[in-house]
Amino acid sequence: MKGLILSGGKGTRLRPLTHTSAKQLIPIANKPVLFYAVEAMVDAGIKDIGIIVGETKDEIEEAVGDGSTWGAKIKYILQEEPRGLAHAVLVAKDYLDGEPFVMFLGDNLIKGGIVDFVAEFRKEKPNALILLTPVKNPSEFGVAELIDGRVVRLEEKPKEPKSNLALVGVYIFDKNIMKAASSIKPSLRDELEITDAIQHLIDSGLQVKPHIVKGWWKDTGKLEDILEANRILLEGIEPEIIGKVDEKSKIFGRVRIEKGAEIINSNIRGPAVIGENTKIIDSYIGPFTSVYYNVSITKSEIEHSIILENSTLLEIGSRLEDSLIGKDVTVYKVHTKPKAYKLMLGDHSLVGII
Ligand code: G1P
Repeated sequence: MKGLILSGGKGTRLRPLTHTSAKQLIPIANKPVLFYAVEAMVDAGIKDIGIIVGETKDEIEEAVGDGSTWGAKIKYILQEEPRGLAHAVLVAKDYLDGEPFVMFLGDNLIKGGIVDFVAEFRKEKPNALILLTPVKNPSEFGVAELIDGRVVRLEEKPKEPKSNLALVGVYIFDKNIMKAASSIKPSLRDELEITDAIQHLIDSGLQVKPHIVKGWWKDTGKLEDILEANRILLEGIEPEIIGKVDEKSKIFGRVRIEKGAEIINSNIRGPAVIGENTKIIDSYIGPFTSVYYNVSITKSEIEHSIILENSTLLEIGSRLEDSLIGKDVTVYKVHTKPKAYKLMLGDHSLVGII
């Protein structure tokens, strides 16, 4: 069995970060989202993995490499235009070479992994196995209608959903999906939808089995979902202090302080993770915060946030919360007169001021 991870797409709901970077590389608990997908595959015994890439190809290849870090063999497959998930399957035709495969959307996180799911496919050999989970907002997903435990209908982002069972972005297919993907027409959003390709399998009398996810799952396509994913994953980190903590600092609860990090006259209240070579000086880092590498935080208070690499926060007067700060960002207190905000923000930025 092979793996196919989809890591193209434009990530429009995460602008401005995705103007310059791939959404699949946003770190959750200081690890890029995409790495969790690779690990889930490897844990389930899948070592041949194709990654579909688009305009952020170079950045993804650089971060993930050839897979040897995980004992896997990773190949990159270029999808020139983001024309849908079923289109990505067609682009991977040669790579998949008729083998069954797990398709994993690179911005999806499944806490319990996919070991059970893969075992079920191997045992029962349906033509497709789809993961479903009950959600509060089914119209934002592909939705499945089941009768007596059988999938009878699938609909992509329906206005009036027939159930609350969303399609999780992890699927297992045998070779029949290729013909189905090439038989469907683009949707209203002008994409070849995998949901429609699976419906085509059902209409052709092939077996599509549902598997309900019991654990936690998240599509990290939006800010609040990223913060929630960060919260959940931080609760499970192993507390470990490798970096330096001076005697004036206090560490409470589940906290990981990575190599080369320095905590000076500061309080860190977990769950939280402080990345490599990051400096926290005269500051407070509150629960559910992930600070990535080479960050400098001085005289500031931060809670329930994610700060990306190489950023600087200096003397922020009020506490920063529920925030996602990109790479190489500077937020600082202005000492000159007049007392005014001085902003240089990228397109589609979001700033809440008090
Ligand atoms: C895609 C699928 C949808 C699925 C979702 C899961 O949506 O089209 O059926 O429920 O992923 O994350 P998209 O993220 O492309 O809007």
